[in-house]
Amino acid sequence: MCGIVGYVGLQPAASIVLEGLKRLEYRGYDSAGIAAVQDGRLVIRRDQGKLSQLEQLLTEQPVGGHIAIGHTRWATHGEPNQRNAHPHVDCGGEIAVIQNGIVENVLELRQQLLAEGHTFSSDTDTEVIVHLVEKLMAQGHDLAEAGRLAFGQIKGAHAIVLLCSREPGTLVAARIGNAGGVTVGLGEGEMYLASDIPAILEHTRRMVFLEDREMAVVTADGARFFTLDGEPVEKEVTEIPWDPISAAKGTYRHFMQKEIHEQARSLTDTLRGRIDFETGAVTLEGLNLPAEAARSIGKVVTVACGTSAYAGLVGKFLIETLARVPVEVDYGSEFRYRDPIIDSDTLVLSSTQSGETVDTLAAMAEARHKGARSVSIVNVIGSMAQRVSDGTILMQAGPEIGVASTKAFTASLLDQLLLGAYLGQARGTLSAEDSRALAQAVVELPQLAGRVLSEGYNDYETLAHEFHDREHFLFLGRGINYPVALEGALKLKEISYIHAEGYPAGEMKHGPIALIDENMPVVTIAVQDNVYDKMISQIEQVRARGGIVIAVCNEGDKAVREKANYVLTIPRTHHLLTPILAVLPLQLLAYHLAVRRGCDVDQPRNLAKSVTVE
Ligand code: AGP
Repeated sequence: MCGIVGYVGLQPAASIVLEGLKRLEYRGYDSAGIAAVQDGRLVIRRDQGKLSQLEQLLTEQPVGGHIAIGHTRWATHGEPNQRNAHPHVDCGGEIAVIQNGIVENVLELRQQLLAEGHTFSSDTDTEVIVHLVEKLMAQGHDLAEAGRLAFGQIKGAHAIVLLCSREPGTLVAARIGNAGGVTVGLGEGEMYLASDIPAILEHTRRMVFLEDREMAVVTADGARFFTLDGEPVEKEVTEIPWDPISAAKGTYRHFMQKEIHEQARSLTDTLRGRIDFETGAVTLEGLNLPAEAARSIGKVVTVACGTSAYAGLVGKFLIETLARVPVEVDYGSEFRYRDPIIDSDTLVLSSTQSGETVDTLAAMAEARHKGARSVSIVNVIGSMAQRVSDGTILMQAGPEIGVASTKAFTASLLDQLLLGAYLGQARGTLSAEDSRALAQAVVELPQLAGRVLSEGYNDYETLAHEFHDREHFLFLGRGINYPVALEGALKLKEISYIHAEGYPAGEMKHGPIALIDENMPVVTIAVQDNVYDKMISQIEQVRARGGIVIAVCNEGDKAVREKANYVLTIPRTHHLLTPILAVLPLQLLAYHLAVRRGCDVDQPRNLAKSVTVE
């Protein structure tokens, strides 16, 4: 998705904006640009391609001034090239706009503006915004009022920032719907704007998040907030606990590698303050679900996308086992088109790392519309999902920068386990003894995860060398580990571009077994649980047909080691915690295969970290 950064203050603005855009590179983009006001003139620098090209352009043609806006574009309307890169400017070259989202009524607005004599210099939908502002300023409105009136004329979801050389100390920003966030960073004598926290975290941790149909008028001295109807709004300032260091790569080669190896710590942070290790009692601050309400829940419906949807499939096992309440899991993009059966006894649970996935947000809106209570499991503080839910469980996993989600997946599993335990304790389906046993297993979990992630614990290099040139993989899991097979396949395909399919192991004989041969490695999750014998049989079926098996199994398991071609081991743990450990070798297998294939691990082609368009 597109990235937005803005600055107004005492420092050279262009360099602050460029550095902020670099921290948003993980979001995926195909062009970038900056607008600044220098000596009373609007100056634009923009180019197709990576930020390094924009940086080169700024080196060759420096831009001064203490106010600027910048944008990384992921093309929707108009191909990725220099003329379609943001910022876009009005006919007079005095007003600039950057935007995330899609102007759904672009055709009628463009025709109207062309008829009124405006000339367009791009194929984008975004450009109509700046010509609307130009027209309104020509009628005597200032930038803020012209912006507000223009925002009221465009349809669709947007995040927008305006800059004008005639008002060189003012930025105007707006959020409409769910096209990514707009965050205002509060400095001393300087102010920041960003679509994502990491872009400005090194400058300030004091943030204000715009809600839907809100706007901000920002100067170096501060910001004023309004609704798009022009009503002033009092906004809360959030202190962000993340530090810039944790958002940086550190000694790792890739953000994804760092985030995989951070999971012992992120699991610890997810747990922090939420479970009494003696009694197992669970408290979830921000859940906003009293025990009495927990007892009245008739069913849980989980809505999510991608990796988060697979986390929801594991969560079904966790919550149904602990709380004995039925759990349906559906993709956000499917849920709202099936007229779901939802009522006031339904708890709609959304799991979303970014908190900005438009399909998930739309599903949540549909559920609320049907009267359900909503709880979100979110990693990004201040994101839309957190703000529109009745209650939130923060993942507390720290910034996840790599496009491929890893620590957010395991954080979501742990949060759903805690939610299941909380519901079970409230509903009387989880005994004190079982709560204590679960707490004991949970307290050991981060250390066990750290063991799996330790150097040399499993041999991924051999597997990467052996299989980096394969074109297909099949992942098989059963029971609570079936969704882990789906997640392992997604990790592999999205960063290595190898085709991979996750499948319920029992279903292999109903079709996929026709695919088995020596060319397609089969990854199986064969831990010592209630379906272990079935998985052993599965391995035998694959080997009998000349297939190659890479098995995830428990430490010391001799039977699997004899039958499989390769093994990836994990320590034994509580049955409900197994998926959190079983996914770790699959994350590392995908990572090492992708690196061996020379892929762009942190920014895989065509992918974005937060999908804020349908
Ligand atoms: C996961 O590796 C992918 N990047 C993608 O499937 C992601 O999980 C999905 O887009 C949902 O994102 P969210 O958790 O931020 O809602």
